[in-house]
Amino acid sequence: MPETDTLTRTAAAPAAAPTLLDLQHLEKHFGGVTAVGDLSMSVKSGAIHGLIGPNGAGKTTIINLLTGLYSIDGGTITFDGTPVNGLEPHEIAALGIARTYQNVRLFKGMTALEQVVTGCWLKRGTSLFASFLGLPEARRARKATEAHALSLLERVGMASRAHELAETLSYGEQRRIELARALGSDPKLLLLDEPTAGMNHSEASAIGHVVRDLRNQGLTVLLVEHNMGLVTEFCDTCTVINFGRLLAEGDPHTCLSAPDVQEAYFGRRRDADRFQSLR
Ligand SMILES: Nc1ncnc2c1ncn2[C@@H]1O[C@H](COP(=O)(O)OP(=O)(O)O)[C@@H](O)[C@H]1O
Ligand SMILES: [Mg+2]
Repeated sequence: MPETDTLTRTAAAPAAAPTLLDLQHLEKHFGGVTAVGDLSMSVKSGAIHGLIGPNGAGKTTIINLLTGLYSIDGGTITFDGTPVNGLEPHEIAALGIARTYQNVRLFKGMTALEQVVTGCWLKRGTSLFASFLGLPEARRARKATEAHALSLLERVGMASRAHELAETLSYGEQRRIELARALGSDPKLLLLDEPTAGMNHSEASAIGHVVRDLRNQGLTVLLVEHNMGLVTEFCDTCTVINFGRLLAEGDPHTCLSAPDVQEAYFGRRRDADRFQSLR
């Protein structure tokens, strides 16, 4: 583990914003593997906060801990002033945390709009009984939910594809649908696990702009991202981890330029130099 005084710490923006998410001494172990070790970090309200680290560093595990999918072995997670430890995934979702997954997870046989409607149920669900009977109240609620879902598709630039089957859309489009579905629960914090993986430069940049728009509309975003260009362009601040432990935090450009971060990320100095010339 790096000594505290060797960590790269730089000013995070916006400094004055309140903390929305706070992790203190978080621990998660799988057998002898420390996936997350003594990790403390906080995410400011209204920020796009990058979570960076090599493969196997513990990024997805952190998202799984934040959403209640994994149990916490040690430490605390506090979201918007509420302790999250021990809560069920649906309780955490109801507090205002939504996520996307590292791999596309859409439902087969559903249109883009229907996918997003499923994401809206947590906030807008009417009773199943009323829906089953086709009561006017349920029909009205359904229409309102569809209108809301359509507005979410609009926010990710996918309204024109609303009635197409999701599986017929391109990979990049499917990732946008997932983003819209995650917005359905009206979250305060959105956790995005490598949303641009497998995308070309312009698709990835378009996602970056969508995320920035969402942030500008008040959402806080924790962005797990491997594309360093995207991190420096779109993230307000970042946390770098390696072997589940904190390596650096603060301004993305400064963090990613730090020699220990480059060493952890690229392993070899030659690759780090190449990274410098690509920026
Ligand atoms: N469910 C699991 N069971 C066993 N080991 C796991 C599990 N989830 C993650 N790990 C291990 O935890 C470490 C961190 O994994 P992960 O969080 O997926 O990394 P990242 O998302 O940064 O690539 C890896 O060593 C991985 O093998
Ligand atoms: Mg991962």
